[in-house]
Amino acid sequence: MGRRLLIAGNWKMNGLRAELAELDAIAAAVASQDTGPGELLVAPPATLLAAAREHLPSDVSVAAQTCHHNTRGPHTGDLSAHMLQEAGADSVILGHSERRTDHRESDEDVCARAQAALAAGLRTIVCVGESEAERRANETLTILGRQLDGSVPGEVTAEKLVIAYEPIWAIGTGLTPTPHDIAELHAFLRNRLALRFGHAFASCVRILYGGSVKPSNAAEFFALDDVDGALIGGASLKATDFLAIARSA
Ligand code: G3P
Repeated sequence: MGRRLLIAGNWKMNGLRAELAELDAIAAAVASQDTGPGELLVAPPATLLAAAREHLPSDVSVAAQTCHHNTRGPHTGDLSAHMLQEAGADSVILGHSERRTDHRESDEDVCARAQAALAAGLRTIVCVGESEAERRANETLTILGRQLDGSVPGEVTAEKLVIAYEPIWAIGTGLTPTPHDIAELHAFLRNRLALRFGHAFASCVRILYGGSVKPSNAAEFFALDDVDGALIGGASLKATDFLAIARSA
């Protein structure tokens, strides 16, 4: 199948110019070919996109953390996909649970943002994940299926789509699902993509795991069949940890 692992760091609302030194450390590791076999991606806050693009070599991707669904207009404080692309982003994370919760983004909203991102040429990293309550109520598959179907636009190509499975209860908590559960849920997501887009498409799409990924547990996740990388929050803020995760791939 040949899916290259994607090691993605989501800085969330962290990062001032002083932290660009972390990107210099990543650039140095790339220069000495000491980053492992995976593709690297960093998603800094929008304020650092342009600087991130300058500090990182071209084979490290730079992602925005969301985008507006319109191309321009009266949307104070928002940024269009094209603006983010012009600032240096080649990808965008969409539908992260923090956006779904803090900004009440629905699957429909995420889908519209993804359409705008694709129109601007950005690769879309669509996040799905169940809450602790949904998990306890045995609703995980229903929630993941609904989010996946509703958030991924029909016109996407496999190259422009990455899925990130992030159980909300595992984000920033130190808790993770068992490898067995992750494998099962990633297989579920891939099958669901296959039902809609066909097997060839689904077998090319990378499905990342996110939620308390650290240097100490990453290798175990990367060894799983349908896990094609990680979306890393806290442990991506320090280049040493981020690179340790990448090297464990
Ligand atoms: O998008 C990454 C994320 O939500 C996981 O965060 O801090 O648990 O690695 P963290």
